[in-house]
Amino acid sequence: MNYKLIDMDIHGDNRGKLIAIEGTKNIPFDIKRVYYIYDTIPEESRGFHAHKTLEQLIVAIDGACQFVLDDGKTREKVWLNSPNKALYIGKNMWREMKHFSYGCKLMVLASEYYDEKEYIRSYDEFLKEVNA
Ligand code: TYD
Repeated sequence: MNYKLIDMDIHGDNRGKLIAIEGTKNIPFDIKRVYYIYDTIPEESRGFHAHKTLEQLIVAIDGACQFVLDDGKTREKVWLNSPNKALYIGKNMWREMKHFSYGCKLMVLASEYYDEKEYIRSYDEFLKEVNA
């Protein structure tokens, strides 16, 4: 499975907590794009795609949600529920995001600019791609 959960170092003191993410230093790629997802609701799932080349790091800055991760052979479920837990997802991984808590905020760091051509949005096509 081309994903891993990374425990980020917390720089905390009596003023609060801070986490720093530096491309290629404490995550495996250089950061070209940042986006965030908010105003989600528990009833609505997102994702349902894979990327041919993109690498991503996802942090639930606030709240929680479940990721379903699938490499075409195995399907695993991972909860993101803490700002110091970062989910790295490499290429060719099908992902679904579910069970968002109200007010969940997901920050996503990406290795490439947005390019719809690099998405695989059909699960059948994804299976063909990974089993080719
Ligand atoms: P979508 O891929 O459906 O989101 P999710 O993976 O969370 O289900 O993206 C929603 C919309 O936002 C879609 O119209 C594409 C657009 N979008 C961008 O314009 N730039 C981006 O970097 C991303 C990730 C999405």
